[in-house]
Amino acid sequence: MNDMLISARHLTAHVASTGKHTLRIVNDVSLDIQRGESYAIVGKSGSGKTSLISILGLLNARYSGDLMFDGKNMRSIPDRERAVVRSTRIGFVFQNYSLIPQLNVWQNVALPMQYARKGSSSRRKHRALDCLRQVGLDARAADRPRTLSGGEQQRVAIARAMVCAPDLLICDEPTGALDKDTGDAVMELLMRLVRTEGRTLVMVTHDTDIAKLCQHQLRMDRGMITPC
Ligand SMILES: Nc1ncnc2c1ncn2[C@@H]1O[C@H](COP(=O)(O)OP(=O)(O)OP(=O)(O)O)[C@@H](O)[C@H]1O
Ligand SMILES: [Mg+2]
Repeated sequence: MNDMLISARHLTAHVASTGKHTLRIVNDVSLDIQRGESYAIVGKSGSGKTSLISILGLLNARYSGDLMFDGKNMRSIPDRERAVVRSTRIGFVFQNYSLIPQLNVWQNVALPMQYARKGSSSRRKHRALDCLRQVGLDARAADRPRTLSGGEQQRVAIARAMVCAPDLLICDEPTGALDKDTGDAVMELLMRLVRTEGRTLVMVTHDTDIAKLCQHQLRMDRGMITPC
């Protein structure tokens, strides 16, 4: 087993902007993420945080540079194999929860297992309920997401990210839309996953107090990682 879960070298990503210019939204980023540790990425709005974690989480393959996940270069494996790594080893919590309104809470949580073709349908339901219990929401399993508060929806999104027992949990502003108490409860849950289950956490936050709860802090500025 590799101690370094992620090694990124010279990651660079461009998007087309007005005229002939291209904008470097991720600019020569090199970093190491150690297994079982927690990392906070802080930085101003528009500094490239979401863009960077989309690359680290294998959601965006349009970059230059090298990305090693558990010792394997993600560029040199076939798309299909990369999709398996993404769906079985990485859990992603999006900036806006992205729960599916037509599905109830447990069906939302079970969805990554379905995508990864893991388990029978009864096994998936059982596991989804188990994850919902861990985030304190098993009583709401049959409800639709829209009937839940923002903090509850965020906890459902975390349960969904955990359902395949991923090595790496990537969370984009998991406390951004929450009041302090609810945000603290979400952070406690995330830190517990790192401490007791050995998960690796990479989270984006604009809140420096929350960032300090993580073992490591990285700052992004205009697409670059700068010292904190
Ligand atoms: N697909 C795209 N096309 C054009 N510009 C983009 C695209 N994706 C991101 N950008 C631009 O790249 C920059 C970085 O965006 P990104 O979403 O990564 O920032 P962020 O640090 O996550 O910001 P926030 O804190 O507001 O979520 C922004 O200026 C954004 O407008
Ligand atoms: Mg963002």
